[in-house]
Amino acid sequence: MNRFDGRRVLVTGAASGIGRATALRLLSEGATVVGADVSSDGLAATAQAAADVAEPDQFVSRAIDIGDEASVRDGVAFATHHLGGLDVLVNAAGILRSGHTEQVTLQEWDQIIRINLTGTFLMIRESLPALIDCGRGVIVNFSSTSASFAHPYMAAYAASKGGIQSMTHTIALEFAKQGIRAVSVAPGSISSGMTSAPGLPEDSDVSLFTKMQPVVRIEHADSEPPAVPGMAGPEKVAGVVAMLASDDGAFISGTEVRVDGGSHL
Ligand SMILES: NC(=O)c1ccc[n+]([C@@H]2O[C@H](COP(=O)([O-])OP(=O)(O)OC[C@H]3O[C@@H](n4cnc5c(N)ncnc54)[C@H](O)[C@@H]3O)[C@@H](O)[C@H]2O)c1
Repeated sequence: MNRFDGRRVLVTGAASGIGRATALRLLSEGATVVGADVSSDGLAATAQAAADVAEPDQFVSRAIDIGDEASVRDGVAFATHHLGGLDVLVNAAGILRSGHTEQVTLQEWDQIIRINLTGTFLMIRESLPALIDCGRGVIVNFSSTSASFAHPYMAAYAASKGGIQSMTHTIALEFAKQGIRAVSVAPGSISSGMTSAPGLPEDSDVSLFTKMQPVVRIEHADSEPPAVPGMAGPEKVAGVVAMLASDDGAFISGTEVRVDGGSHL
């Protein structure tokens, strides 16, 4: 099923975890992809994996720091020029930092909001002209289960993800007449770089984590077993992103899809 034949895609966070899995999934369905990230080593590994699922000219990587306005401007200009336009923007890049809220410094707070929320905004702002131009542009943003459910020690992270959800609703309405759809995915319990080292305080009260265990049986037949036991692999989210960004998601906009194995039931 080549739902992305002829579709031009920019994926941030493509050097690791869900962003990498999404780039590979969309490539395998025929997309041409620019994968962006701050990690050049990770991007090189993604490019290597891309060679197994796609033609050499289908994937190009590009260093973009989404928290830096000039980097985003240059990176998006490169992507739209290289691809000859843009049909899909996937904003998977993000960081997780945890801590006791009363100990979080303003610098730490600002860094999380800057990368996750402001970075997602900058990517959207710079990509919108090309997405509007293509006539049926799709934006897939990354929220988190922490946006709607209490996750202790993650106040800044949860706030950044709640902001992304709200921003997504606004963009979906504001640009609907220009053919844009905007949706969020809200993953939870997905094995990735982020969840292998969540950096929780050493004295965390684990009894506060009441909604972490997926209830759906996890199958790993289509991937390596995840690094974190009890979590699903990133390709489980990539498949949902592919659905949302394809014409199969044509009637979905301004909402979020939770992909957490039912852990928040
Ligand atoms: N894994 C989960 O269970 C889970 C849950 C909720 C939300 N998410 C969200 O999913 C998205 C993907 O995360 P993941 O789980 O694959 O983690 P990950 O750490 O494996 O991937 C995140 C990627 O973002 C990149 N990145 C960080 N800062 C950047 C910046 N300033 N500019 C460009 N790239 C930057 C990292 O280098 C990394 O490659 C994130 O937005 C994350 O918040 C993940």
